[in-house]
Amino acid sequence: MPEFETADLTERERARIVKTAVSPRPIAWVGTTSPDGVDNLAPYSSYNYVSSAEPVVVFNSPNADHGGLKDSARNALDTEEFTVSVVTEPLLETMDATAERLGPEESEFDAFDVERAPSKTVTPPRVADALVSMECTLHDAVEVHDRLMVLGDVTRFHVADDALVDGKIDSQNVPTVGRLGGPFYTASTPLPFERQN
Ligand SMILES: Cc1cc2nc3c(=O)[nH]c(=O)nc-3n(C[C@H](O)[C@H](O)[C@H](O)COP(=O)(O)O)c2cc1C
Repeated sequence: MPEFETADLTERERARIVKTAVSPRPIAWVGTTSPDGVDNLAPYSSYNYVSSAEPVVVFNSPNADHGGLKDSARNALDTEEFTVSVVTEPLLETMDATAERLGPEESEFDAFDVERAPSKTVTPPRVADALVSMECTLHDAVEVHDRLMVLGDVTRFHVADDALVDGKIDSQNVPTVGRLGGPFYTASTPLPFERQN
């Protein structure tokens, strides 16, 4: 089996392996509001949760010294608030469209006709059609090489009735979409699995 020393690969080659190996990645549809009041929306798949009992989620953007912070990260730092809407299959195309780089004065909610749902504990809106969304306040921001990790404490969850079975959220009713390496998404089909231990 071929092996590759990281130092012998170009940045592009490393990224291709990392993004294919670390997949499928969940997609955070990050909502923020700029200090000027513009609602921003963009997808981030360098995303995960860090802790669940006291829920913290993280998304990553290039840092200020490497191409400049993207709007989502800058707004999250400036206002200390963001939302995450969960992307399910019916939302895939619209989510992908909102990755377009619009100026900070333009709202992707308006440009791509995404209906807003108001948040209760933070200013940024959520995606009204998302089955699950979270309101977050800035926990910390940590630089790792050319990236900025934006960590948020989840202050409120919104879960649609359709996502619940017997009052509990159920993966079978939340058809999340993941990102693979290259030009691929993947749809989730839950595989029932009885754990032995
Ligand atoms: C599915 C998907 C996942 C993405 N994940 C990331 C990511 O993790 N980090 C990143 O910097 N950009 C990511 N992008 C690109 C951003 O969405 C894109 O640069 C967007 O214009 C950023 O918007 P903003 O400046 O409004 O935050 C992703 C794009 C797509 C379509």
